[in-house]
Formats: sequence, structure tokens, C-alpha cells
Amino acid sequence: MNIHDTSRYHDVHARSMRDPEGFWGEAAREIDWIEPAKKIFDPAMGLYGRWFTGAVVNTCYNALDRHVASGRADQVALIHDSPLADPAAPSTVTKLTYAQMLHEVQALAAVMQDFGVAKGDRVVLYMPMVPEAMIAMLACARIGAVHSVVFGGFAATELATRIEATRPKLVFSASCGLEPGRFVHYKPLLDEAIRLSSVKPDGCIILQRPQQQCELVAGRDHDWAELRRNAIAAKKSAPCIPVLATDPLYILYTSGTTGKPKGVVRDNGGHLVALKWSMFNLYGVEPGEVFWCGSDIGWVVGHSYIIYAPLFHGATSIMYEGKPIGTPDAGSFWRVISQHHAAAFFTAPTAFRAIRKEDPEGNFIRRYDLSKFRTLFLAGERADPPTVEWAEKQLKIPVIDHWWQTETGWCIAGNPVGLGMLPVKHGSPTVPMPGYQVDVVDEAARPLPAGTMGSIVIKLPMPPACLPTLWEQDERCKEAYFNEFPGYYKTSDAGYKDGDGYVYVMGRTDDIINVAGHRLSTGGMEEILASHPDVAECAVLGVKDAIKGEAPCGFLVLKAGVTRAHAEIEKEIVALVRDKLGPVAAFRLAITVARLPKTRSGKILRGTIKKIADGDEWTMPATIEDPKVLEEIEGALKGRV
Ligand code: COA
Ligand code: AMP
Repeated sequence: MNIHDTSRYHDVHARSMRDPEGFWGEAAREIDWIEPAKKIFDPAMGLYGRWFTGAVVNTCYNALDRHVASGRADQVALIHDSPLADPAAPSTVTKLTYAQMLHEVQALAAVMQDFGVAKGDRVVLYMPMVPEAMIAMLACARIGAVHSVVFGGFAATELATRIEATRPKLVFSASCGLEPGRFVHYKPLLDEAIRLSSVKPDGCIILQRPQQQCELVAGRDHDWAELRRNAIAAKKSAPCIPVLATDPLYILYTSGTTGKPKGVVRDNGGHLVALKWSMFNLYGVEPGEVFWCGSDIGWVVGHSYIIYAPLFHGATSIMYEGKPIGTPDAGSFWRVISQHHAAAFFTAPTAFRAIRKEDPEGNFIRRYDLSKFRTLFLAGERADPPTVEWAEKQLKIPVIDHWWQTETGWCIAGNPVGLGMLPVKHGSPTVPMPGYQVDVVDEAARPLPAGTMGSIVIKLPMPPACLPTLWEQDERCKEAYFNEFPGYYKTSDAGYKDGDGYVYVMGRTDDIINVAGHRLSTGGMEEILASHPDVAECAVLGVKDAIKGEAPCGFLVLKAGVTRAHAEIEKEIVALVRDKLGPVAAFRLAITVARLPKTRSGKILRGTIKKIADGDEWTMPATIEDPKVLEEIEGALKGRV
């Protein structure tokens, strides 16, 4: 008998398609509702229908209170592990039990209420990977406030855009973040963002970290520790505020095809149900076990699998403030897994490529007892077969690629460990999860036969947890996702399915690139390049990078009459992207060229430039205006990539 025969996957997926309301209604029994749903799915509501309409619930209650009430009070909810907090120690570990976490969240939620934060108000977090970030997110959920976390690697301008769009009552931030060899000074970035934004928050709650403190702005900034101390001394404790299942839990901005990011909205009810379902059925983890997601709280993967899902499930979550290599070595992942007995670990392939480069023989792996470690999950970018093969060989456990988007909040296609694994095919994240009908279509939305590349789309309605809309932008949401292929959600990923229904996700159909598992818009970067006074025209594209998968590369055409040294301008451009977008862009390469290759209708031939930069085979496009330009590009790239 092969593993395929023992998997319940096919039956379960078929049922979710045949009877979605029955399927998700049953999954919803795992959640404690204040009032049950009037309808499991209401097709008349929202842009494509809404899940669990009329239900009343509280996300924080399901993450904390119910576990404290049912015997998990003394179980550890969060293990925070930081190899960066104290350079003299291998790592600094802080643990909070479910009861301690609840106590902290109740107090902080009460503090927020004292600031006038109420149901539906927005709260921005711009924070490093510290337990207080989790406490703040759960405190928002407790009182029905809507959090919007901004990744710490984004610059002030990006933070300002998000403050402007969400109009937060409060901002949570910290004196510093810790990156290897440097502090991230959040406070000056926050001050600048508030200066740039026409919307000003009522207050900022700042965590002073011992590694480096910051100045507080009188009247606006408040010391987190002091507020906490006073609230606890006064025995302040906020109860859970009932919200509708369809009310927003959070807004998470992600790169769109223009410079303006898209505010993906996540609701309370669908998110609870889908994420809870996934913990055992997809990740194969039982309540009480330790789950480690090595992402950042600023990304969707961090929201779902550092903060929420492990706690919905009564598991223990690990939050790691370190890197796969260099903190201090390529063994840090194995140290964390072994020290904290993680049963499953979830990270991005880029992290494995970094480890493999430093430790190709896997010598660090054998220094640790990994006997509790059952499964490795990869997502965030395509898991390239050589990386998966290396990880399988070294770890001797299943390595599971699964495909996600910020918009979906959880896995679209994966290999369901709890239902029984299907055979792994390298290069494929396996099969659609329940509720997802994944099709590959042509431009006219006609399904394509197996093996044929096309646009990957999801048949509407999307399952619970997927975005109901973009924050205050219903029209943009329809335009971005629903209009091009009627009846479908457009993933903007291209790929194919094989004869067994396995999905292969090969790349994006828009201008999004994936740099070290981080989603970035080249269009957004082009806007920054074009803002430089010497730049007449530009193009940014993702070129192959051995560790990060892709790295951005900018081509510049300078204005006539600019006589300054090209190298100087290129340096300014690199600094400009870091300043405007942030270090996360990893933008290090700007190349000046005399002209850009274009079609006769004036379109820049990005695809051909990319092939040349990647060293791939390329053919002369029939529509090219002047074939000589490609030779110039080849020349300019020599020695630069
Ligand atoms: N706050 C501030 N700056 C940050 C940051 C944060 N939270 N995260 C990253 N940065 C900075 C880095 O310090 C770096 O700055 P530098 O240019 O001064 O060196 C820059 O942003 C680029 O970071 P990154 O692309 O992450 O490169 P890296 O060299 O620091 O690390 C990897 C490379 C592969 C080790 C790392 O990217 C990694 O672990 N990626 C996994 C990503 C992941 O888990 N994604 C979630 C999807 S599952
Ligand atoms: P994000 O919204 O940041 O999670 O990025 C989503 C995008 O990352 C997807 O649209 C894909 O292009 C890419 N991606 C994520 N996971 C995978 C995967 N397992 N295989 C291929 N691409 C992936």
C-alpha cells in the first residue's frame, strides 16, 4: 500500500467542494462562538459572499481564555528565543504560559481602552520580533480593534502610507530592532512617518528595549512598561468584546502592482475556522505540541502561524528573533528546534539556501537531537527542487512545500500531513486544500488541459479566511482580483496542473518579485528611481540570486546633459530605495544604460532583459524597435550580475 492509498485527502477535498457549508459548518464546531452563524455562507453578502454571517465571536477568547479555562493555564503559549538580545549569551529565552499571556493581554487591552480605542478602531504596530508584539496583536483582537502590522524592514514612507490609509488611534512601536551587527532605530522612522502622514495617531506606545533606548515625544509617546505597571497595579483587565464573524480582525498591506500597497482585510470568523482546521489536518500538529514558524510578524505567514493558529489550537508557538545563519552560525535553526522540542517547523526556502551554502554537508544538523522534529514546511516562494532534495537528505523527514498568498491567509495548495500525506513531487506544492478549486486558465478564463501553463485562478467563492475585500477599496479589490476572470479569483501566479491534479506554481504574471521570501513590487521601485532628478527613464526587474531567489536590478537612462559620474548616481539610487522603501528591498544594483530595449509600440522588453541578466537563452523579439540595444544591455551587465 502506498501513502496515497491511506490519505483521506481526496474524500475530504471532494466533500468540501460538494458541500462547502456542511464542511465548514463542521470545522466551525472547533471554535467557541458567542452566537452561532445564521448562515454558514451567505452568497448575497460582500464581493463574493461571506462566511459565518450573523455569528458573534472573539478571536482572543479562542486564542487564550478558553485554553486557560480548559486546563492549559500553565502550558507555555509562547517561547521567545533571541540569539541577538544578549551578544554574550547563545540565546535569551522568555516563556509565557497561557495564563501569563492572558494576564498581559487583558492589561494591555485595558490600557488601549483608556486611550479610547474601541471596536473597529485601527491600531498600527511597527515592531521587532518580541513577545510584546504578540501581546499587542491579541489585545487588539480582544477589544475588537483592527491591527495593521508594518514589517520592520520598511522605511518611514511606507509606514506613513499605511498610517494614512488606516487612520490609527494608536501606534505600538519599540526603541529598536536587532539585526546582526546593527540596531534598527524604529523611533526616528516612526517620527518621520507621522510627520509625513496627514493623519496623526492620538498616541504612541513605545517599548524601551534594554539594548538601546529612545527619546519619547512629550504628550504623544508613552512608555509601554510604565503603562503596563500601572494597569497591573490598578488590577485593570479588559473583557473580550463580542464582534461579528465578518468584522475585520486585521489589515495587512502587501505589494500591489502600483506603488500603493493593498490593504488585505482578514475577518474574525473565517480566519478562526480555517486556521484551526489547518493545524492538525495540514500541519499534523496536536494541541500541546510545539510549532515553530520562522517568519516575521510583519508578514502574513507570521500573523497566521506565529501569532494566531498555534494558539487557536492550544499549541505552543515559538517566536525567533534571529537569522538562519550568522546568529551565530548555520546551526541556529537546529538549536532552536532541539532546545524547544518543536514538532513542526515552517520557513522559506531562501533560509535553507543560506544554510546549505554555509553548511553543505549538514554538519551542524548532526550536533542536535532533532528526534521530536517530524515535518518541515516551506512557503513564501517556489521551493526549488535542489533545495528540497538537500533538506530531505539532511533531515530525513518529510519536506513539504505549500503555496500561499497574503490574500488567502493560509495555504492554497499543500500536502496535508494530518489527513495522510500524498506522495511528494519536487517542484509542486501538491494539491488544493479544502474549499479551494484551483484551475489553470487561458486569457478567456477557459480551463487548460493538464500540463499546459496558464493563469492560476481560484473558483469563487474562496474558502474561509481569504480576503473579503481590500481596506476601504472594494472597487480596487474587484479590479485586482475578480474582473479579469469572471467567477474566479486571480492569483497573479502562473503555472500548471499535472494529470494527478498537482499544482505547479512557476512565477508571477505581474510585476511582483520575490526577494528572500519577501514580496516586492518592481513598479513601486521604479517610481522611486524615476523620482531621482537625473533619471529620465528606468526599469526594475528581478534577476536570479543564488540565495534570495531573486534580487532587484535597476536600469537607468539618464537625462540628456547629465555629466556626473554614473557610479555616483547609481550609489544615490541604491541609497534612495533603501531610504524610501526600506532595507527589505535588498536593492543593491543600479546600472546606467544609454537606452532601454523597447517594442515598436514603446513597451520596455523586460522579459528579454531578464533572460540576458539571468544568463538564460533568449531570442530576438520580433517587435523590437532596435536590436542593437540588447547588445548594449549585455555589455552593461558584464561583471555586474
Ligand atoms: N527590520 C529591519 N530590517 C530588516 C528586517 C526587520 N525586521 N528584516 C530584514 N531587515 C533588513 C536586513 O537587516 C537587511 O539589511 P542590510 O541591507 O543592512 O543587510 C535587509 O533588510 C535585507 O534583508 P534580507 O533580505 O532578509 O536579507 P538578509 O541577508 O538579512 O537575510 C535570509 C537573508 C535568507 C537569511 C533571510 O532573508 C531569511 O531568513 N529569510 C526568510 C524569510 C521568511 O521567513 N519569509 C517569510 C515567508 S515564509
Ligand atoms: P505573499 O503574499 O508575500 O505570501 O507572497 C505570495 C506569493 O509568493 C505568491 O503569489 C507566489 O508568487 C509566491 N509563493 C508563495 N509560496 C509559494 C510556493 N510554495 N511556491 C511558489 N510560489 C510561492
